[in-house]
Amino acid sequence: MPSTRPASQPEPASPETRPSGPYWDAVYQRRGASGVSWFQSEPQTSVDLIRAHATPHTPIIDAGAGAGSLTGQLAAAGFTDLTAIDISATALQAARQRLAGHPAASRIRWIHADLLTWQPDRRYGLWHDRAVFHFLTEPASRTAYLATLHTALQPGGTVILATFAPDGPTHCSGLPVARYAPTGLARALGPGFSATGTKSEQHTTPDGTIQPFTWITATPTGQS
Ligand SMILES: C[S@@+](CC[C@H](N)C(=O)[O-])C[C@H]1O[C@@H](n2cnc3c(N)ncnc32)[C@H](O)[C@@H]1O
Repeated sequence: MPSTRPASQPEPASPETRPSGPYWDAVYQRRGASGVSWFQSEPQTSVDLIRAHATPHTPIIDAGAGAGSLTGQLAAAGFTDLTAIDISATALQAARQRLAGHPAASRIRWIHADLLTWQPDRRYGLWHDRAVFHFLTEPASRTAYLATLHTALQPGGTVILATFAPDGPTHCSGLPVARYAPTGLARALGPGFSATGTKSEQHTTPDGTIQPFTWITATPTGQS
């Protein structure tokens, strides 16, 4: 039977099937880097929180960076040790192309990998994730993500997470999401992290829809 879904929308993934890199590649190919709902030309909240929790030489990783401009903007602002990781090669290529020829580009390491299975070869002082953790609707996926986070983050480091708030969308890019209030997000990080701050934000999508987000900053407690 022919699909009635508009060509601009990906087919919904089964909740039991974790979306692959090609699934995300297709999302970026269909909508374009600046047409995705999470697009922001100025990632101001991220930059403000990172400035508050990192020095220019803090190793910073943007987990699920997508095609966003965050690492490029941080590099231009003088941050020297930046990594962008994503499961979508298409997204990373779009982010790299935007920076092509810019001196700041050489300060960014690009990693094409799945956060749930990635084996970091070093540690970071700051882990930033905007709109990735909320796609992990299965406990096993969250456990795998947190294992990577614990391996990747330095003792005393900072994690910055942003997810949809309880009154945010239930789905994004054809995928179900988990929505969090600050207390729930802190709980989801488990006893290995202690929350140090929270913030609410209303994100405006390219088509003008308002999406409420919950932000949290946290630091490792040393417990697992
Ligand atoms: C909603 S987008 C957010 C992108 C970016 N953080 C931003 O705010 O512009 C979610 C991103 O997470 C990536 N992603 C999803 N699951 C992932 C995984 N298991 N490992 C790495 N990246 C993942 C997707 O490819 C996509 O780029």
